[in-house]
Amino acid sequence: MKYLDVEIRPMEEKDLPQVMEIENTCFLHPWKESDLLYEMKENPVSNVWVIEYSAPSLGLKTIVGFVDYWVTFDSGTICQIAVHPDIRRSGVGSEMMKEVISDARAKKVNTLTLEVRESNLTAINFYKKHGFYVSHKKPGYYDNGEDAIYMILEVQKNG
Ligand SMILES: CC(C)(COP(=O)(O)OP(=O)(O)OC[C@H]1O[C@@H](n2cnc3c(N)ncnc32)[C@H](O)[C@@H]1OP(=O)(O)O)[C@@H](O)C(=O)NCCC(=O)NCCS
Repeated sequence: MKYLDVEIRPMEEKDLPQVMEIENTCFLHPWKESDLLYEMKENPVSNVWVIEYSAPSLGLKTIVGFVDYWVTFDSGTICQIAVHPDIRRSGVGSEMMKEVISDARAKKVNTLTLEVRESNLTAINFYKKHGFYVSHKKPGYYDNGEDAIYMILEVQKNG
């Protein structure tokens, strides 16, 4: 879009209200502000990024999604990825995922892994689209007894 800039950048404390709004609308058991602050400021392995849309000529800026992913040696884990419900299915999640995969590749990560609720077919489709495959189930992984699907991306072999 002609007047719209898109930026993926590290999350800052000032972003917390907008990120919490997305968090609260996206997850059954949302993280608290303190969880996000820990990820941002203290967890040495985490990368917390936001995706911000802005229209400089109109003076508008808004965060439309965020991602938290960990890198430990040659392994990466996607802890959270979320897009504001009003702007889903328009490529925002994919923009973030491409950035994560490219960062992981540059950091010589071999595998990116994640757990996703078995009922979250949207996210499972999304991950498959980005090259993840289903490895196995983790029975009763979530608080409500739901199974997790464990998915893997072979980072260096894809793309
Ligand atoms: C999963 C999520 C991050 C995807 O973000 P998004 O910006 O909507 O995704 P994109 O527009 O980049 O979609 C990319 C692909 O994902 C799949 N996808 C996305 N939404 C889908 C839907 N509602 N139904 C089926 N497939 C879907 C499609 O393959 C899509 O490609 P296509 O549009 O060319 O068919 C978003 O749905 C979300 O925030 N969900 C709630 C939070 C969540 O469940 N996070 C994951 C926790 S493990």
